[in-house]
Amino acid sequence: MTSRTRVLLLVLLAGAASLGLLYAQAQKKPVIAFPMGYRKWTHVKTMVILTNAHKLFDRFEGLHNVYVNDIGWPALQQGKAYPDGSMFAFELFSVPSAGGAIETRGGRKFLAVIKKNAKLYPQTGGWGFEVFQGYQGTGSLKDMKQCFDCHSAQKRKDYVFSDYVE
Ligand code: HEC
Repeated sequence: MTSRTRVLLLVLLAGAASLGLLYAQAQKKPVIAFPMGYRKWTHVKTMVILTNAHKLFDRFEGLHNVYVNDIGWPALQQGKAYPDGSMFAFELFSVPSAGGAIETRGGRKFLAVIKKNAKLYPQTGGWGFEVFQGYQGTGSLKDMKQCFDCHSAQKRKDYVFSDYVE
């Protein structure tokens, strides 16, 4: 190999490496950590989706609870835009019916989380979306767009569905 070809090869390699890095950065989704202790946040509401008469039965069959953290709580109460750091958690349990009662014995199906950070998530209304399957401590969501496509209908309420029910 002549020294010219060697230099050319090196230049090509360096180019390929930096392209790879750029690609990795573009793909990287800011990580949302599992919200430890979310059960101690403020309980917003509970809902049971029982039959396929509800249009979200396929996705959200079971009992879900919604919680909001202390940063988001005043905005929810006053119906204002949410400040950075606001978080909601949506836990879904399967509820096998037995003996005329509904209980969360079936275990958690998933925990869905949204976290406000206007700078990090400009393409999804300033909210980051994440899903923790079952009792996993690491998020597994590939594409936040699938969440935002539906939540975008709530633009008027800063992309949040839930209202606080006293
Ligand atoms: C097909 C529509 C739809 C999709 C897709 C969807 N959601 Fe929701 N989401 C809802 C509805 C409706 C509620 C309100 C449930 C209630 O009223 O109890 C909700 C509530 C929530 C809440 C509680 C805060 C709020 O807005 O009320 C979180 C957190 C949440 N979703 C996260 C997610 C995440 C993460 C994804 C993507 C994996 C996702 N959602 C995808 C419809 C959707």
